[in-house]
Amino acid sequence: MAPVKAKPGDNPGVLLENVSKSFGTADAPIHALERVDLTIGEGEFIAVVGPSGCGKSTLLRMISRLSPATTGTISVFGDTGSEPPRNMSIVFQNHVLLPWRTIIDNVLFPAEMTSASRQELRPHALELLGLVGLADFAGRYPHELSGGMRQRVSIARALLLKPTLLLMDEPFGALDALTREQMRVDLEDLWLKNRMTVLFITHSIDEAILLADRVIVMTPRPGRIERILNVNLPRPRGLAARREPEFLEKSEEVTEIFLSRGVLHGRAKEDRSHA
Ligand SMILES: Nc1ncnc2c1ncn2[C@@H]1O[C@H](COP(=O)(O)OP(=O)(O)O)[C@@H](O)[C@H]1O
Ligand SMILES: [Mg+2]
Repeated sequence: MAPVKAKPGDNPGVLLENVSKSFGTADAPIHALERVDLTIGEGEFIAVVGPSGCGKSTLLRMISRLSPATTGTISVFGDTGSEPPRNMSIVFQNHVLLPWRTIIDNVLFPAEMTSASRQELRPHALELLGLVGLADFAGRYPHELSGGMRQRVSIARALLLKPTLLLMDEPFGALDALTREQMRVDLEDLWLKNRMTVLFITHSIDEAILLADRVIVMTPRPGRIERILNVNLPRPRGLAARREPEFLEKSEEVTEIFLSRGVLHGRAKEDRSHA
């Protein structure tokens, strides 16, 4: 199919139309995702929340072109081709740093995949390390850093080539709760400075609401979009947003969806109100 070209003034962002994904043979396919329609505006921060196995990573892999959709079309900034978009970066749950390289050399690694010059990008890499609070660690090695610090390095690395699309697959999933809260606040700051389009996958209801302009709530497998919530909390949301009525209402709404779908059950709802 010919690439869909954006007209000047169009703001295509990422468009998914009738996207489904099945794995395996025709007689026993696993339907991972069904009929997903979604428009992500340029510069928008979108969070996807849903239970394990509902197709969140599959969705991200299809948008990044690591995996083709079974049906439907996905357009990324007007491009419907099968090559990974150039202006895209991905952050995974596990940081995958190269242990034999210093922190700054890990951040500079993406330069080697392109024609960009390491020397020219070095000041930017140092600036990014500063932004993620690791200015003093440029010459250290990954094993000298904590898990949270390593994940900061992988975020700095993802930002090196100034992506306009940042895909994050449970990037804070392996971190302790306090580190995770801090990373969330810092990610919002980074986004406010750069305004790239972000697709942030999580199974934390709170994290989704505290970060996103819109929260996509997915059903259990086969994953479908159950609801899309607008979050109108003012930014920066920082730590205080957890006390806002808007936050409490939206997290209640998502919890209700997960209760009705059996993703959460039993005393989960009562327990939340005493938390
Ligand atoms: N390469 C694959 N082959 C077969 N099944 C897969 C593959 N990748 C994912 N799946 C299945 O698709 C469903 C969705 O997986 P995934 O997108 O990883 O879920 P999530 O990220 O929401 O936890 C799961 O049932 C999973 O087992
Ligand atoms: Mg996943």
